[in-house]
Amino acid sequence: MSAVATDLLETVSDFRGRRVLVTGAGSGIGLAISRKLLARGAEVIAVDLRIDDIPNGAVGLSLDVSNEAQIAESLERVKELGPIDTLFNNAGIGSTKNVLECEVDEWDRVFNVNVRGTYLMCKHLLPSMLENRYGVIVNTASAAGLIGLPDRAAYCASKGAVIALTKQIAVQWASEGIRCNTICPGTVDSPWVGRLIDEAEDPVARRQQLVGRQPMGRLGAPGEVAEAAIYLASDAAAFITGTDLVIDGGITAG
Ligand SMILES: NC(=O)c1ccc[n+]([C@@H]2O[C@H](COP(=O)([O-])OP(=O)(O)OC[C@H]3O[C@@H](n4cnc5c(N)ncnc54)[C@H](O)[C@@H]3O)[C@@H](O)[C@H]2O)c1
Repeated sequence: MSAVATDLLETVSDFRGRRVLVTGAGSGIGLAISRKLLARGAEVIAVDLRIDDIPNGAVGLSLDVSNEAQIAESLERVKELGPIDTLFNNAGIGSTKNVLECEVDEWDRVFNVNVRGTYLMCKHLLPSMLENRYGVIVNTASAAGLIGLPDRAAYCASKGAVIALTKQIAVQWASEGIRCNTICPGTVDSPWVGRLIDEAEDPVARRQQLVGRQPMGRLGAPGEVAEAAIYLASDAAAFITGTDLVIDGGITAG
């Protein structure tokens, strides 16, 4: 391996001294991000609605990312341990309806978690990042924020909003040591997608259909998405801000 490649690998692998907060850390992509960061030496604060499955070695924080009072109270306690320099806004929920089927309550629920949650966590963590002139934010959007998918009105719209908010934050504070990017996963075999498949009338056919539309002939793994997210958070990506990194096995390329 060349010296440049070795350097890059070391930078991506080294999170010692970094204090990272991951939302939606109890499952799927967030759990994979948290485990990989812990293995690379980061201090990890794992946030989820209910913290049952905290990755070993992380500090668990139980809160709803759409609830500002809960965020303010919990972060006050965590900040006593030292400033958080890296934020993964990964908590998210879905909706499988088109505009005509989606009731206002469901629309609001999706936007509250996916968009308001991302905005609130940024609002509460950016001040200390700006004070230290160093901060990295990686927001989990989706390929659904870039292309239209049938029966995903609120979900597509909310992930599009996450991408737009990310770009806004990126340009706002690029000169003050803050980087903000999104990852846009395609279909990933997380517990969420597992549930969607299990709830289908014919789960075997549903899985085959999802796999069948993939150019690579398989779904993504949470760990594969986590690697891309961690790259964006690492200092190897020091010149990257405001971008959306697609990790979808080629599905949006067609
Ligand atoms: N799995 C996929 O195919 C896929 C594709 C593209 C994007 N994504 C995005 O990736 C992210 C993670 O998805 P996943 O597949 O790992 O799902 P998951 O359901 O396995 O994990 C999501 C976690 O977020 C938590 N969460 C939900 N609402 C919350 C709230 N209000 N406050 C705090 N935590 C909350 C859940 O409890 C859960 O543990 C989501 O933002 C999702 O939209 C997933």
